[in-house]
Amino acid sequence: MATLIIGSSGLVGRNLAPHLLHEGESIVCMDLNMELTPDLPGATMVQGDVSNFTDVSETIQRFEPDRVINLAYLVGRNACLQDLNRTLRVNILGMDNVFRASVAADVSRVIWASTLGVYSSIDYEPGLVVTEEYPRPYSPYSSFDGSYYNALKHFNEYQALLYASRESLDVCAIRPSFIFGPGRTTGVPWACSFIEDAINGKTTHVPMHPDSTFGLIYVDDVVDLFTKITLAKTLSSNVYNTGGHLLSISEIAAEVNSVLNGNLISDPAKNPLFQFDISNGRAHKEFGFTLSPFSESLIKHANILRSQ
Ligand SMILES: NC(=O)c1ccc[n+]([C@@H]2O[C@H](COP(=O)([O-])OP(=O)(O)OC[C@H]3O[C@@H](n4cnc5c(N)ncnc54)[C@H](O)[C@@H]3O)[C@@H](O)[C@H]2O)c1
Repeated sequence: MATLIIGSSGLVGRNLAPHLLHEGESIVCMDLNMELTPDLPGATMVQGDVSNFTDVSETIQRFEPDRVINLAYLVGRNACLQDLNRTLRVNILGMDNVFRASVAADVSRVIWASTLGVYSSIDYEPGLVVTEEYPRPYSPYSSFDGSYYNALKHFNEYQALLYASRESLDVCAIRPSFIFGPGRTTGVPWACSFIEDAINGKTTHVPMHPDSTFGLIYVDDVVDLFTKITLAKTLSSNVYNTGGHLLSISEIAAEVNSVLNGNLISDPAKNPLFQFDISNGRAHKEFGFTLSPFSESLIKHANILRSQ
């Protein structure tokens, strides 16, 4: 089978492409900027803009992929606001282009990345475990956190539902928690640099209370779930949470400092902020999906950085 990965130069895409090749897939990689897409023997490389319908539809018509994965996005709450016009073209129009071109070419499945941020309207309660079935209430009284990024992902979920119901598109969203992995540059700065800092003997200042919680997932685990969902013959659902290691900042610090001899320090003067525990029970039940142990992922990540 052939799979087109759009956004192949990003953190998820550049790790997913070699993995799918290894699983025997034919791969077509497309990104606006192909420089960071790995040079993979046997893979086809296409430079293209997801916000341009012609780029997307010509690539799909030319290579006739069975599956299309869309990871092309302007990621993060601040990045989204830098050029709103461009953000809307990439994050909303781009997603629509992928769905529309896939319907026109009879693509058998489209997989795309939503986010755990779509749960941001749920009021936090200690011990609450959020599953895909959990209602996400919208009312003037709900506590939506106001991030444009999360709002656009919500809109993408509606776009996907429309294409599923009106066009019978087999479309599946994966909702990752915060992904860490080598070369991540977008999103929460400390969470992009904490392992690099540890191996370089630098202190990581986390501007969060030590009791605050944060859900982290290693990029290889995200790649594993994308692969399972891409290759599955049938899916029982059109949305799957990845879940993540829900740890307090002091627990993250303890692991990083002991496993990598790092110096990650939190800020007791900040107010504690708590993330939900997001269940990946659906993906576990259907595909046997589990997270790698946090300390193993820290070591793997550090070893990759050391070898570069
Ligand atoms: N990284 C995370 O923690 C996280 C968490 C939840 C969801 N997600 C989602 O997962 C997906 C992939 O995330 P990532 O971390 O790999 O992002 P990334 O920022 O590393 O990569 C995004 C890729 O999109 C490409 N791109 C941007 N504009 C484009 C355009 N007009 N045409 C073609 N390509 C374009 C970029 O060149 C880049 O290679 C995104 O949809 C993101 O919102 C990420």
